[in-house]
Amino acid sequence: MSIKNKIITEKLPKHIAIIMDGNGRWAKEKGKIRTFGHKKGVETVRKIVEASSEIGIKYLTLYAFSMENWKRPKYEINALMTLLVQAINREARNLMKNDIRLLAIGNLEKLPKKVNKKFHEIIEKTKNNKSLNLVLALSYSSRWEITNAVQKIAKEIKNGNLNLENINEETITENLTTSKIPDPELLIRTSGENRISNFLLWQIAYSELNFCGKYWPAYEKEDFYKAIYDFQNRERRFGKTSEQIK
Ligand code: FPP
Repeated sequence: MSIKNKIITEKLPKHIAIIMDGNGRWAKEKGKIRTFGHKKGVETVRKIVEASSEIGIKYLTLYAFSMENWKRPKYEINALMTLLVQAINREARNLMKNDIRLLAIGNLEKLPKKVNKKFHEIIEKTKNNKSLNLVLALSYSSRWEITNAVQKIAKEIKNGNLNLENINEETITENLTTSKIPDPELLIRTSGENRISNFLLWQIAYSELNFCGKYWPAYEKEDFYKAIYDFQNRERRFGKTSEQIK
């Protein structure tokens, strides 16, 4: 029996974020080049988007390209950009058919013009879709995002639109690229690495973390369901005692 049947629909996390890791190692273990792993990784993206849509997740954020990934060899960056555009072109109709809205967070200005244009086109096309919000983190880093937010807030103070005493947590949240997106309740990372890698540092303050040993290309819907099932069986106390939340 699939673990999917054990998931309680009323207790689904509203937002799941995923650090998709291990494409390169997966390919290497098979004696293939790294880009082969990225290609297979796109197939996993497809499966996990489908699973999220089927069970009723409202927000799925995928770390597709970090700011630090710009330091990779040029051929790998080019291959990743090509894969992103191909995937988005191929899936545009499915996004519409399944009522999925595409969003992007990160410094999109840094993307090649063609890639940036394509993403903006599909983001615009899907903007009224209502089932799943698929958020791609592209050229994203959390420290970049927080630095940007600080600059925006400082500018507001300088222009006399904001008082120093009125800065609170909401002020920060509102100035992040995720301002309209709820915080993730669950963060998954594949490949056996137990770190956050500059991803959504502000937003995951209270997220449950799920580290899975499988490489992203080998990650299955069943692993995703298991992560959700485990999440549903954790006690989230938000600083309170066990008795207080019962
Ligand atoms: C991490 O594996 C993966 C990436 C840096 C890129 C992930 C991107 C995709 C799967 C394509 C995204 C496509 C869409 C449509 C969202 P790694 O290369 O860091 O693997 P390694 O740690 O084993 O070297």
